[in-house]
Amino acid sequence: MKYEFVSASEDSRLDHVGSYRRRLPVSLDRMYENALDWQHLPFQHSSSFSAIDCLDYGGWGWRATVTSVQGGGASTSLLELMLDRDARCWITRNLEGPNVGAEIWTHVFVVSERVLDIVVDFFVPDVPKTARDKVGMAYANAYENLYDEDVAMMTERQRQLDQRLDGINRGEKIELGIADGLELPLQVTLSGRRFVLNRLSDEGAGLPENWVVYPAQCPHQLGPLGEVPLVEGTVRCPWHGYVFDVTTGACVSGSHCQFGEVPQVLLSDAEVTLCWKALS
Ligand code: FES
Ligand SMILES: [Fe+2]
Repeated sequence: MKYEFVSASEDSRLDHVGSYRRRLPVSLDRMYENALDWQHLPFQHSSSFSAIDCLDYGGWGWRATVTSVQGGGASTSLLELMLDRDARCWITRNLEGPNVGAEIWTHVFVVSERVLDIVVDFFVPDVPKTARDKVGMAYANAYENLYDEDVAMMTERQRQLDQRLDGINRGEKIELGIADGLELPLQVTLSGRRFVLNRLSDEGAGLPENWVVYPAQCPHQLGPLGEVPLVEGTVRCPWHGYVFDVTTGACVSGSHCQFGEVPQVLLSDAEVTLCWKALS
């Protein structure tokens, strides 16, 4: 267990059922980004949430109808998250549904540029005093799971952001060998950028139009596309569920973002080479 559970004290708010405390290897920017990021709930936290319908959002926070999954059942709640940057705090309120009236207050303490301590206080109305620890621990365990998933996402995004990219070297190419011998999907680096080489179908290794190359990072927030399955010519990003057509680079799930330039695949004597298109 990476966190500390603290029982509610006698003189705290009547509905305080406990606190979750944890040190996180992330910056304040990544943490705020994550708190405001309502879209990731049913994707990055798919074992906890199955759907979200956002009613309003902005720099202040978000309000959304959220479907939670627990033990094979599902329940829907109206949740509101409000961020107070001055106080380095955000409050999630349960406005409708099970546990209506519950509030979760998260305070952030900056330890260093990329290390934060968080203290999450759980307030749940109408919990008998004798049951507070049990309810508090249930919330803390749920938060442990959510933060494990969020830390993975935040640290990977930071790692991608830290990679400074130089311009494309148009003369650069990479010879990958015999087409039939390649284990796909194959991640390759060209001009410092990671790409995925794949085929639209298992057949047709000799057909140039059957080969596709797409970025290993999602153009939305740099989510990982390298391991996700290619389904009918599309990939779905695991962070927010955006779906991209790997042939055109367009997002086909309603977003405006799209893939940037990718190298072309050359087939010569059954050998595969990736290279950049010459600028006309
Ligand atoms: S990072 Fe958001 S959909 Fe990919
Ligand atoms: Fe999250």
